[in-house]
Amino acid sequence: MAKESGEKWVLSVTAQTPTNIAVIKYWGKRDEELILPINDSISVTLDPGHLCTTTSVAVSPAFTHDRIWLNGKEVSLSGGRFQNCLREIRSRATDFEDEKKGIKIAKKDWEKLCVHIVSYNNFPTAAGLASSAAGLACLVFSLAKLMNVKEDHSQLSAIARQGSGSACRSLYGGFAKWIMGKEENGSDSIAVQLADEKHWDDLVIIIAVVSSKQKETSSTSGMRNTVETSALIKHRAEVVVPKRIKEMEEAIAKRDFPSFARLACADSNQFHAVCLDTLPPIFYMNDTSHRIISCVEKWNRHEGTPQVAYTFDAGPNAVMISQNRKTAANLLQRLLFHFPPASDADLNSYVIGDKSILKDAGIHDLKDIDALAPPPEIKDNASIQRSRGDVSYFICTRPGRGPVVLADESQSLINPETGMPK
Ligand code: DP6
Repeated sequence: MAKESGEKWVLSVTAQTPTNIAVIKYWGKRDEELILPINDSISVTLDPGHLCTTTSVAVSPAFTHDRIWLNGKEVSLSGGRFQNCLREIRSRATDFEDEKKGIKIAKKDWEKLCVHIVSYNNFPTAAGLASSAAGLACLVFSLAKLMNVKEDHSQLSAIARQGSGSACRSLYGGFAKWIMGKEENGSDSIAVQLADEKHWDDLVIIIAVVSSKQKETSSTSGMRNTVETSALIKHRAEVVVPKRIKEMEEAIAKRDFPSFARLACADSNQFHAVCLDTLPPIFYMNDTSHRIISCVEKWNRHEGTPQVAYTFDAGPNAVMISQNRKTAANLLQRLLFHFPPASDADLNSYVIGDKSILKDAGIHDLKDIDALAPPPEIKDNASIQRSRGDVSYFICTRPGRGPVVLADESQSLINPETGMPK
């Protein structure tokens, strides 16, 4: 395996993988173990500059067992999902040779080598943003690179899927579709790219990270309960989603924003409707989420055509997609009008990500937020409500690229001498 036995080399790879937000939602499995869904889904990949996972993976003859550290803390790797991903990647490992470092690993040796995995999100995990999607996709992608796996992205997506369903869509930039597939072994349940991130690069995405005290139901158990108890989910999966998938693919191909927005909003609302139809009912959105929907709906109706699409995953955070920078700046003004920061906040940490949208909105300091006039769609003063502190912060971002290997060794999260987290 190594040049000489007892040699303590460490071989590592670092990769960065984006998160994604579904605009046609995955909700419900037909196979819990293989993670096979009951309908297709479509997502937009978010710019990894603002939201991503970075993962370093390493092998060394000195490692005694497989280990993983997430956001600075060692956690157990014994979970079935991690193990399934590791097993699938290991079984596809191929011969590897680095002549410079004098490392040679034959296909059969990968089974005996233990891995160290160190992973970080560049956004707060507690924010409830789809961290599992980016995390599991990054784990699979980086291990595949390390072990010289030759499979293409769609085959890797079928492995990431077994870590977390939504992770399979994070193997691509731009727009991705997870095809549910028909096979019992899941071989055709893969993600494909519908369009890359350059296809529709006018889109601007604003995420409202909504304060939430409530403990949320995990997606995994929530969707299990929905499939077991909801009478609506069958109709959604068999009748509504197949039609919406076709329409959404067309809207994306044509960059038809009004159709895109109508479909995304309707699908988010229906996903939350099936959650409410679950026994016991699941409430992922809270009062602030509802007020954000009402703010966007009023504006869209006032303009006569959708300006912004909103979508909510299994939590209260709003992901809003606007057609271009101009509507994004108008949206941000409205959001800051309705949801000004808590009195002790500073603007720099209240709006993060692409701050140029803030400038476009004419907001340079907190006084500019206080001075914002009510948007024209709000006719009567009685319905003006400014809710200070109900949003923790906003992230301005855009559609982004798929996974990449970070070749610069200084970006590795693993110490090349010890094989331990830096
Ligand atoms: C609401 O992928 O987190 O975000 O497959 O059980 O890990 P598991 O669930 P997960 O579910 C995501 C659900 C969703 C919708 C979506 O991303 O399509």
